[in-house]
Amino acid sequence: MVDEPFNRVFLVDDDAEMRAATSQWLGLSGYEVAVFSDALSALEQLNTDFPGVVVSDVRMPKMDGMKFLDCLKQLDPDIPMILVSAHGDVQMAVDAMRSGAYDFIEKPFDPERLLEIVQRSTEKRRLIIENRELRRQLAGPETIERRLIGNSAAICRLRDEILDVADTDAPVLICGETGTGKEVVARCLHEFGSRNQGKYVAVNCGAVPENMFESELFGHERGAFTGADKRRIGRFEYAKGGVLFLDEIGTMPLSMQIKVLRVLQEREVVRIGSNDPQPVDIRLLSATNKNLREGCAEGSFREDLYYRINVIEIFVPPLRERGEDILFLFDYFSTQAALNYSRPEVALQGADIGLLMSHDWPGNVRELKNLAERYVLSSLPPDRRLSSIMSQGRVESSTTSSLQTLMRQHERLLLEQALASCRGDVQEMMVLLDLPRRTLNEKLQKHNLDRKKYL
Ligand SMILES: Nc1ncnc2c1ncn2[C@@H]1O[C@H](COP(=O)(O)OP(=O)(O)OP(=O)(O)O)[C@@H](O)[C@H]1O
Ligand SMILES: [Mg+2]
Repeated sequence: MVDEPFNRVFLVDDDAEMRAATSQWLGLSGYEVAVFSDALSALEQLNTDFPGVVVSDVRMPKMDGMKFLDCLKQLDPDIPMILVSAHGDVQMAVDAMRSGAYDFIEKPFDPERLLEIVQRSTEKRRLIIENRELRRQLAGPETIERRLIGNSAAICRLRDEILDVADTDAPVLICGETGTGKEVVARCLHEFGSRNQGKYVAVNCGAVPENMFESELFGHERGAFTGADKRRIGRFEYAKGGVLFLDEIGTMPLSMQIKVLRVLQEREVVRIGSNDPQPVDIRLLSATNKNLREGCAEGSFREDLYYRINVIEIFVPPLRERGEDILFLFDYFSTQAALNYSRPEVALQGADIGLLMSHDWPGNVRELKNLAERYVLSSLPPDRRLSSIMSQGRVESSTTSSLQTLMRQHERLLLEQALASCRGDVQEMMVLLDLPRRTLNEKLQKHNLDRKKYL
């Protein structure tokens, strides 16, 4: 992974002219620049292995640069972010540096200066990633037991199944309920397979708007349609030599399914607006939490595509069917959360064990992980903690729709995380969550959260 050139720049600015000028300049200097008009779409494509830096405007609609910086720090505190602002007041610059920005420059700026900062920060990023890689090597080989955690017979079998097929190129369909760990399985298939030096490229089919699908997967030439102001490499091509993971494949529109089938059959892909087929060299992984066989019977999923993606099927069992894992995973996630949020570890109380074991875990491991985090962050006394957190979820779920419950639980978790990371400081929380004081207070009240306990 480290042999990748560290020359990526994510440029985020809502001003199209600014984007074009800056990206051209950086491009000419040898950087591979990806431009985004808003922070969220950039965040979606960033991950902890990102071999580069982020240059972002400060004032932008939806999410501003400071908030973006916060989110980036949560994703990976070591991705350098350079903030650019036309309204360069001193306070903002100070705030930006204090929040961990790599540097701050004022518009209009001398492009040479930006270039110099980008050079320095990409160099820093390279050192960090190399260092991590080194530490990883010193810590010994990464084992699948440390990635896909669990002690149950079902999980041991799952790990064996993954290792058995990881080295082949056969397409794998990963099935299982929501939150069972399908994405973890996909990553293991990549990491412990023969293509682990290649990329792991994931596409969440449920999140791609229908009219963008083709360009997202196959790419387009410049001018192929209105708005195509630049050539774009599609995910099939981008994953060359590596693994392409089509998540939630059951949500792919039928019109796309036939096109994907063709690409898989011919093993070549043609960018929109081009005549040149490009060879496809990927291993295809897909995941679904729907029953695709039923989808085929109902006509929402093509049978021919189903057989093509499902040469090997891996089923990830729901958590309630592997009871031995529940306490083990709870312990693992709460220890992690305690480390992450610098909170003391709290041992489970005797009665809690029964609660955890008798719950049916509709949200599977994700639900357990959220619960473990909330458990660590909660300020309630240990003997009432787990029962109180769990009963909240359950009472609500019997009276309201599950989306509402999930949103409410999620809101609570975010509030608790913010309380912990801001140590109960209202001002800081208002900035972090981008909420006015009154709304913040109302929300804390709604969830019965006491700020003072975090001070
Ligand atoms: N066996 C496991 N070991 C460690 N972490 C796990 C395991 N299973 C799941 N997780 C964690 O639980 C969360 C949910 O897992 P994941 O995203 O892989 O689920 P999923 O099956 O893809 O869910 P969905 O269908 O909703 O996309 C993630 O944070 C993941 O890291
Ligand atoms: Mg998933």
